[in-house]
Parts: sequence; C-alpha cells; structure tokens
Amino acid sequence: MEKTIGIVSGKGGVGKTTFVTNVGLSLIEFEKDVIVVDADLSTSNLGLQLGFYQFPLGLQDVLEGNVPITNAIYTHPSGLKVIPASISLNYLNKVPTPYRLKSLLNDLRGLILIDSPPGLRDDGLLVLKASDEILVVTNPEIPAVTDALKVIKVAREMGKEPMGIVLNRVRDKYELKPKEIEGMCDVPVIGTVPEDKNVKRSMFEKSPIVKHKPYSPASLAFRKIAANMIGQEHIPPRFPRLKRIFGG
Ligand SMILES: Nc1ncnc2c1ncn2[C@@H]1O[C@H](COP(=O)(O)OP(=O)(O)O)[C@@H](O)[C@H]1O
Ligand SMILES: [Mg+2]
Repeated sequence: MEKTIGIVSGKGGVGKTTFVTNVGLSLIEFEKDVIVVDADLSTSNLGLQLGFYQFPLGLQDVLEGNVPITNAIYTHPSGLKVIPASISLNYLNKVPTPYRLKSLLNDLRGLILIDSPPGLRDDGLLVLKASDEILVVTNPEIPAVTDALKVIKVAREMGKEPMGIVLNRVRDKYELKPKEIEGMCDVPVIGTVPEDKNVKRSMFEKSPIVKHKPYSPASLAFRKIAANMIGQEHIPPRFPRLKRIFGG
C-alpha cells in the first residue's frame, strides 16, 4: 500500500466528490496508480460522477463482509480504479465497524483517495480513522470554514494532523482569503479551485470536467493540486484561453 488520503469536510456540498473525481483522474494523467473509494455510504455519488451507474458490488457489500474488496474495484476508461458505493437505501441504517475499512484498504496497492460524507457522524469518523492523511475541502465562507475547524479538531484528537486545506468554489472578494483561513485553522491551504460553470456543465454531459473541459480554470486547478500532492512539477499549458475557445 502507498498511502490513504481521506478527503473530508465539515459542511456538505463543498466539492469533495468533485475533488476526488477530478484529482483522481489528474493523478492518472501523471501515471500514478490510483484508487478512489466512495465511503459516503448513505449519499454516495462518486460512481455517478465517473459514469458508473450500475455495478454489482459496492463498498457496503464489502464492509458487510460478503465479498473481497478486490471484487468491488471497477476501472474507468482512463485507468482510474474506482470502488463505488451503492446508491440503494437498503444500507442506510448499517454502520460498519470503524477499523474494518482501514484493514480492507491495507490490502490494496497505490494511492487511495477516500470520498466521505460531510461531518462527524459515524460514517465520517470511519474515514478519519481509515486514512493515513487527511485533506480538508471547504468553501471560503465562514460557515463552511467553521465546520471544517470542527473536523480538523477531531482529526487532531485522533493524532492526525491534516496535511492541508483545499478551497473550492473561490469566487470574489466577499469571502475569506487563504491566509485568513490558514490563520483560523492552523493548516496550510495547499490549493484553490475557482468557481467554474463548466463543473455543472460537465456533470450534465456525464463527463468529469478534467476530461470534458481540460483547459477550463477548475481543470487547471485540479491538475495543479494533483501534481503538488505527488511532488511532481506542474507545467501549466500554454494559451489555455485560446485552447478553451477552440473547444478544450
Ligand atoms: N469549482 C466548482 N465550481 C462550480 N461548481 C462546483 C465546483 N465544485 C463543486 N461544484 C458543484 O457543487 C456541488 C457540490 O459538489 P460535490 O462535489 O457533490 O460536494 P460534496 O461531495 O462535498 O457534497 C455540485 O453541484 C458540483 O457540481
Ligand atoms: Mg459528495
């Protein structure tokens, strides 16, 4: 096993699943061996973002102990490995035992990104416990950052210092600045992703933004973060605006 990074947040809807999808795909472009795992067990949609609408086995089946984890790995055309979670409501009231996810993931090879539910209920704690590293996603707004702080505090109580914060949906001057957020949380901001209408458009087209609009501002940001995460030099493409005009 290489490393397991839990992508967490306090508030919901800040962009965790979008991050895991697009950073996962970007890491594949850097020829990394990557597995993305959907541990948002009750409101799972990582599979959907990657175009897996129907699959026989999901993470819930593995956690229930019925099947080996390798049977729930699917491969995206890009080469990205995906362990999706079922969107069925049948699993709603079943909370898996905390350390089971960690021991299951120990058997896998490559860099593992875990998508998670928001907050600090049992299923959120599961991801904090199963991850070697924690990356916090937030929007640059006071309610989202306040909730992120709670997750950071709980992670620290578990002896896990978050490796960084990603600011997603960065828009205008009426929001917190990276330095302010670093000051509030005492965690470095390792990347920022702008608000980008192509995220929604790509979802509609059923193709993640880094594939659908590779030169759009959010795609460039996701690729840059992916490069930073693996210590790879990131060379931004030349003339991205021009490339966008011609359909990229
Ligand atoms: N950078 C962005 N620009 C515009 N919309 C975004 C961006 N990131 C995420 N979104 C939108 O925000 C919503 C929530 O994103 P999602 O990844 O599902 O959040 P979470 O997994 O944290 O609940 C989705 O509708 C998604 O399309
Ligand atoms: Mg999500």
